[in-house]
Amino acid sequence: MNIVLMGCPGAGKGTQSAKLQEELKLKHISTGDVLRTEIASGSELGKKIAGIINAGNLVPDELMISMLENIVKSTDAGIIFDGFPRTVAQAEALNAMLKRFHREISAVIMINLPESEVVKRITSRRQCKKCGAIVHVDPAAPATVCPDCGGELYTRADDTAERAKHRLEVYHHDTLPVKTFYQNSGKYVEINGNQTPEKVFEDLVAVLKKVK
Ligand code: AP5
Ligand code: MG
Repeated sequence: MNIVLMGCPGAGKGTQSAKLQEELKLKHISTGDVLRTEIASGSELGKKIAGIINAGNLVPDELMISMLENIVKSTDAGIIFDGFPRTVAQAEALNAMLKRFHREISAVIMINLPESEVVKRITSRRQCKKCGAIVHVDPAAPATVCPDCGGELYTRADDTAERAKHRLEVYHHDTLPVKTFYQNSGKYVEINGNQTPEKVFEDLVAVLKKVK
């Protein structure tokens, strides 16, 4: 089973992918995480893409597609695509790539979230440097240490209110056309992301039960 998980920034793609990966034993590919790992490695490529990501803009299609292809060909497991495709060119490339590897998309699931929730969620997100846990903080008195392991919490460079708003604009301009691309494929389903993570997951699993 290969699943494309769509949704605006903060919709819950990463949160739900982690749960699905565990439940269905699929490989989770978050292109955002792949890019952040490249940046953390200190490579020349990482240095090039850091400015793009931190500003909330999209990494060029050709680069993203070739990075993704290397990961897809390295696994036989079913895949959850989180954050890819983000442009129509990427969606076309994904179809062609999967065809070459004798695979296909089983479902495209859009997690809907009202925009009023997006900035709230994104600006209160922190991640633990030590254990990787995602933590929500109270913006009025943000915690600085991880409640799980005591590690230091950090804020993603693109998680400021200003960058979150810009990411939303980029989403509207470049990524919403991908919804149109998939809408008539017979594989496209929308779920409500404005519920507890547990309820969103329940809805996601219910959708996937109907997928061949
Ligand atoms: P990426 O890392 O993919 O970021 P994003 O899509 O902007 O989305 P987020 O990761 O912020 O949100 P999410 O939907 O995963 O939500 P999450 O579960 O974390 O991409 C970052 C950048 O990389 C891009 O801007 C671009 O520069 C580049 N990039 C990536 N892919 C690319 C591509 N294909 N092409 C070109 N460039 C690319 O949840 C958000 C927060 O809300 C968390 O704190 C979470 O705990 C909380 N939360 C989740 N669910 C709920 C819920 N139900 N109720 C309450 N809180 C919740
Ligand atoms: Mg994410």
